[in-house]
Amino acid sequence: MSMLLNRQTFGNPINIGKLLSREEAETLLISWVPNQRLQLHMRQVGYLLRAWAKEKLNADETLQWKWEIAGLLHDADWDQWPDLHCSKIIEELENRQIDPEVIHAIASHGPTHFGVEPVTDLDKMLYAFDELSGFLHAYSLMRPGGYAGMDVKGVKKRLKDKTFAAGVSREDVADACNRAGIELDALITFMIPHQEYITLQWQQQ
Ligand SMILES: [Fe+2]
Repeated sequence: MSMLLNRQTFGNPINIGKLLSREEAETLLISWVPNQRLQLHMRQVGYLLRAWAKEKLNADETLQWKWEIAGLLHDADWDQWPDLHCSKIIEELENRQIDPEVIHAIASHGPTHFGVEPVTDLDKMLYAFDELSGFLHAYSLMRPGGYAGMDVKGVKKRLKDKTFAAGVSREDVADACNRAGIELDALITFMIPHQEYITLQWQQQ
């Protein structure tokens, strides 16, 4: 099954700055993604992007939300329409006249699958957080304390064990770090506490 999108431009530049409200994004997420595990993954990636924009780029609230939306919705069509991933969510956001930069980030979150290169910082960080986020979560589920006490060394040890979370492409993780210009250690160090935070928030609701 080919997931190639067969195009390189997404959305319309006149819509730059047009975002869904949080309520609209939540409604879309909840109605399109009944699978709670996948919803959590999307919330984790969304929060990681928000936190990165805030802490590394000094982004204001609007820009933080723009980054968060890309993560929050990047897999929105995977649960119910896997054959249409990710063209269905792209078309939905185009129809809603959403910021083309958000749509491009979603379109480029798996360059080898979708045939779209990550270009912007947002594109690259979505790609970088995506698979590693799922990997960290898989690791947390096999640790007695979950995320508590998780460290870079332990994560890297698991990454070297190719039988663990075998669906996570180690090549994609390395490729994403290269493209983002970030060391794997630094990426994992940033991710652990933020992913722990958003996961605890989710579990407490
Ligand atoms: Fe994902």
